[in-house]
Amino acid sequence: MLLLTGATGLVGSAVLRRLTAARVPVRCLVRDPRRLGAERVRVQIALGDLADPPSFRNALRGVTTVVHLAAAIRDQPRGSIEELNGIATWRMVQAAEAAGVTRFVFFSALGASAHDRTRFLRAKALAEQAVTESAISEPVVVAPSIVYAPGDVFMTLLSRMAALAPVVAVSGRGRARYQPIWADDVADAVIALLGAEGEALQPRYELAGPEEVDYTEITRRLLVAAGHPRRLVHVPTPIVSRALRATEAILKSKAPATWDEAELMEVSMVTPRGTADAQLLGVSPSSMAEVLDLLPV
Ligand SMILES: NC(=O)c1ccc[n+]([C@@H]2O[C@H](COP(=O)([O-])OP(=O)(O)OC[C@H]3O[C@@H](n4cnc5c(N)ncnc54)[C@H](OP(=O)(O)O)[C@@H]3O)[C@@H](O)[C@H]2O)c1
Repeated sequence: MLLLTGATGLVGSAVLRRLTAARVPVRCLVRDPRRLGAERVRVQIALGDLADPPSFRNALRGVTTVVHLAAAIRDQPRGSIEELNGIATWRMVQAAEAAGVTRFVFFSALGASAHDRTRFLRAKALAEQAVTESAISEPVVVAPSIVYAPGDVFMTLLSRMAALAPVVAVSGRGRARYQPIWADDVADAVIALLGAEGEALQPRYELAGPEEVDYTEITRRLLVAAGHPRRLVHVPTPIVSRALRATEAILKSKAPATWDEAELMEVSMVTPRGTADAQLLGVSPSSMAEVLDLLPV
């Protein structure tokens, strides 16, 4: 049995489609099974929450492989970024060890470091440490650059902003650099590493797309793909920070964006390995132009 967390997310839904198509027995740890859509009848469901580590024990019963994708880039009413990403992963690893899990695949992010300026990437670094230092025989850390797909949450948010105004705001100078990778390519890589045995399995995979672009350029391309090309206006980060913190104070968890999320777009997520690790898994990541049906840049 394979336990998949984050199955309702961008990467998780693409991974789950592939697992169920291959008839792999899957259990999904979810907060709300309805969010699994049609897949919910093809999997076992374990109700659980990153904010409730005792829920992991039941979910892990009889499980040999874990793919831990669930994560949160903003505080939730039941847990902080640190609790949901750092402590929850540590507790998941402990529960997995106790359950006899042999392979634990953890999704971190490129650039995760205990000294990063963002709370999220600091929490991911601690989580990585919990996984790599565990007693599980095959711990695997996957660190992707920014992941996207046509119509994903970020593209939808940009489209909505573009529908409201002739310009779209970009937080700060938008110069952080990324190697955007399509969610389907990430999912193909996950399926390949789940099948890898012995020497073929590496302890760490850095997943990146074939191009390196900055945040401004990614935003521009996504807006073109969404059919809303717009002029981009750079807003100084102190103003963005104050505005988003004020919005969050009023709207709480309903805020459309938070400073913790915006700050992530200030941090580069690139690997000098480029597409090498994806290629090792037999995946040749597509360019944004191919995925979004854009004219080549
Ligand atoms: N997307 C990127 O650009 C990117 C870049 C680097 C690394 N990563 C990492 O890759 C992994 C997958 O990313 P993604 O983009 O697919 O994430 P996503 O679309 O934001 O999905 C997050 C998933 O986590 C679940 N989740 C959130 N809070 C939870 C909680 N308290 N308890 C249980 N489940 C919870 C969500 O479930 P609900 O349906 O219940 O909300 C959802 O399934 C994550 O670990 C992420 O940090 C992503």
